[in-house]
Amino acid sequence: MEKISISGGKPLFGKIRVSGSKNSSLPILSCSLLTDKKLTIKGVPKLTDTFFFLELLSSLGVNISNINKSLRSQKLILQAKNIVNNKAPYDLVKKMRASILVLGPLLARTGKAIVSLPGGCAIGTRPVDIHLKSLEKLGAVVSIEDGYIYASAPKGLRGNKIVFPKISVGATANTLMASVLAKGITEIVNPAKEPEIIDLGNCLKSMGAKIDGLGTNKIVIQGVSSLKESAYHVMYDRIETGTYALATAITGGEIELLGAKKEFLNSFLNVLESIGIKYFVTDKSIIFKRNSNILYPVEVTTEPYPGFPTDLQAQLMAVMSIANGVSLITENIFENRFMHVPELIRMGANIKLKGNLAIVEGVKKLKGAEVMATDLRASVSLILAGLAAEEETNIGRVYHIYRGYQNIVENLRQCGAMIKRIKI
Ligand code: EPZ
Repeated sequence: MEKISISGGKPLFGKIRVSGSKNSSLPILSCSLLTDKKLTIKGVPKLTDTFFFLELLSSLGVNISNINKSLRSQKLILQAKNIVNNKAPYDLVKKMRASILVLGPLLARTGKAIVSLPGGCAIGTRPVDIHLKSLEKLGAVVSIEDGYIYASAPKGLRGNKIVFPKISVGATANTLMASVLAKGITEIVNPAKEPEIIDLGNCLKSMGAKIDGLGTNKIVIQGVSSLKESAYHVMYDRIETGTYALATAITGGEIELLGAKKEFLNSFLNVLESIGIKYFVTDKSIIFKRNSNILYPVEVTTEPYPGFPTDLQAQLMAVMSIANGVSLITENIFENRFMHVPELIRMGANIKLKGNLAIVEGVKKLKGAEVMATDLRASVSLILAGLAAEEETNIGRVYHIYRGYQNIVENLRQCGAMIKRIKI
């Protein structure tokens, strides 16, 4: 076990290379199940989430070789010549709930999939009803027994019109991957428009899938009989980019994020400017800088893309806890994504909750404290708070952080943060 210890109060100055997107990499890795040909994927971040996902894919029969042992990212060659197992067992799925993303591809490739229900997590019950209803619309027979999803389509999947009752990133990914090999045309109405879904769609198109309308209110897929060998580079991680930009905001420094692109960050950048942070786009990076000592309060509601991302809500709240005024932050995507609030309050923040609204009254200074990480983004908001707090902050259960942030301690330390891992 480890904890992270931070002595706060120092502005950050330096450069950080942004990783490949975790939330793009996971569904894109799953595409390897759709074909017996090779799929080379570059830029996969080294995270516990991607490690566990590769472990699951390997158990299903995907041969994986990592031909780039560089510190920063992985170049992987995946090939599922034969699917040797159609079951994603609970002991693997419980480690990584995004394992549900093997359901659609397994069903499309073999006509059968048995996947443990992923269960909930700290931020919510995380149901998968939209995933299952979509696969049924494609002709699958789906049942749930003893905590497992049983899905079968012995005669293959058939294209259909699917209207999502609400926007779901994961359900869009599963339906997209299942439909590329279905017979006929599939329309997905009200799909997720997240950049990671566009990235997934572009990877599938590079494999020969016929997909139109990515990023719009209707995606149209013309099923094909098979997919071909391909090589694809996952997009940069926009949530990691936003996290480090907010680290600059809370410490008052200047950080250049190499590999970051303005594309896909507009709603976040608008909020960043309104709180008083400047940014400068170069051809290979974005430079973030806090100009004055004042951080301005803000009213933000998390929404599906292109709205403000829920995955940056906790990090923004940490910054607003030392803003010059009252901020209103509404969480509209998950029912329990305020786990960071009690921990921030222990560090001296003044936050009141009313349902899915957090009323954040800025204080002059945060104080270091012993705090506990609960989920990926709540945990990193505690790192941000610790970077600004006086004295020392110790964060426990840091395994949550390593799920989604590659080299975060090393990255922050090279920018001047007094931060270290401590074995406990
Ligand atoms: C993806 O989760 C991301 N995870 C999440 O990032 C992200 O917060 C979320 O999308 C929203 O952008 C990955 O990509 C691996 P949803 P996902 O299906 O697909 C409800 C992180 O920190 N819903 O878009 O699980 C659901 O309960 C993680 O990197 C149903 O009701 O999110 C939620 O309220 C956290 N039925 C809302 O929809 C369903 O069948 C959005 O969930 C599916 C979802």
